[in-house]
Amino acid sequence: MSVDLTGQVAVVTGASGGLGEHFARILARSGAAVAVTARRVERIEALAAELRAEGARVLALPLDVAEAETIAPALDRITEELGPIGILVNNAGVGGEGLALDISIEAFDQTFAVNVRGMFFAAREAARRMIAAGVEGRILNIASIASHTVLPGLSAYCGSKAAVAMLTRSMAREWARKGLAVNALCPGYIETGINDFWWPTEGGQKQLKGFPRRRLMDATDLDAAFLMLVGPAASAITGSVITIDDGQSLPGGG
Ligand SMILES: NC(=O)c1ccc[n+]([C@@H]2O[C@H](COP(=O)([O-])OP(=O)(O)OC[C@H]3O[C@@H](n4cnc5c(N)ncnc54)[C@H](OP(=O)(O)O)[C@@H]3O)[C@@H](O)[C@H]2O)c1
Repeated sequence: MSVDLTGQVAVVTGASGGLGEHFARILARSGAAVAVTARRVERIEALAAELRAEGARVLALPLDVAEAETIAPALDRITEELGPIGILVNNAGVGGEGLALDISIEAFDQTFAVNVRGMFFAAREAARRMIAAGVEGRILNIASIASHTVLPGLSAYCGSKAAVAMLTRSMAREWARKGLAVNALCPGYIETGINDFWWPTEGGQKQLKGFPRRRLMDATDLDAAFLMLVGPAASAITGSVITIDDGQSLPGGG
């Protein structure tokens, strides 16, 4: 599937690795100007250099979404450098590992500060600018099968991703007549920095063999849904929480 995003300005949070890096590549190769943001500056600068060499307009900008007050100035800088923002991919996320009996207050707070608070204020600040510019905006929040499925040992993560799904629907309702499409994508397990420690372990292998198709997904499995939700096809799709998980959250899986 290909979608022409020429003339669009897109922002990706957490673009320094894993899915965010993948989404930034798709957006740039679809013609959008892209702001790649994250905390690890050398990684977003390397990605920006790679995509500029392919002819894309790319801005690498450090952004820690847990520092919510830094989001608005970052979006202003992106608007100045690239133009009015039309697409926000709210991708930054942390794993929030830890049994409910053990997780520290700090780890719980960081999980919600990034996955929920950072996501919410990035969406709010992007929406304000899209509405002011009269742009038909697209906000795509990267949720998870954890939004609707209990993943053992990940209660803080599951709670945060359930919040992402509900905030997506709430924001979509509030901004429905403002020209914005706000949706969430719920991927199944894909090997990235968030979970790569787990799959080689005995527990990881056991979990993998329990999936209906006995495999992890690949980031490219998300491409068609991703392009649908950031592109013109989403004009009548808002408040949708779409699961793309290779069947991993079906009963008897996981
Ligand atoms: N992989 C999966 O199986 C899977 C499945 C469902 C959903 N997801 C979701 O997909 C998203 C991307 O995760 P991933 O799998 O690509 O994991 P990853 O490789 O660990 O990437 C996470 C990204 O989030 C960024 N990040 C973390 N804390 C941040 C902060 N405070 N401010 C800004 N950026 C921050 C990281 O960048 P820096 O460290 O450089 O800031 C990194 O680029 C997450 O929301 C995750 O929950 C992943």
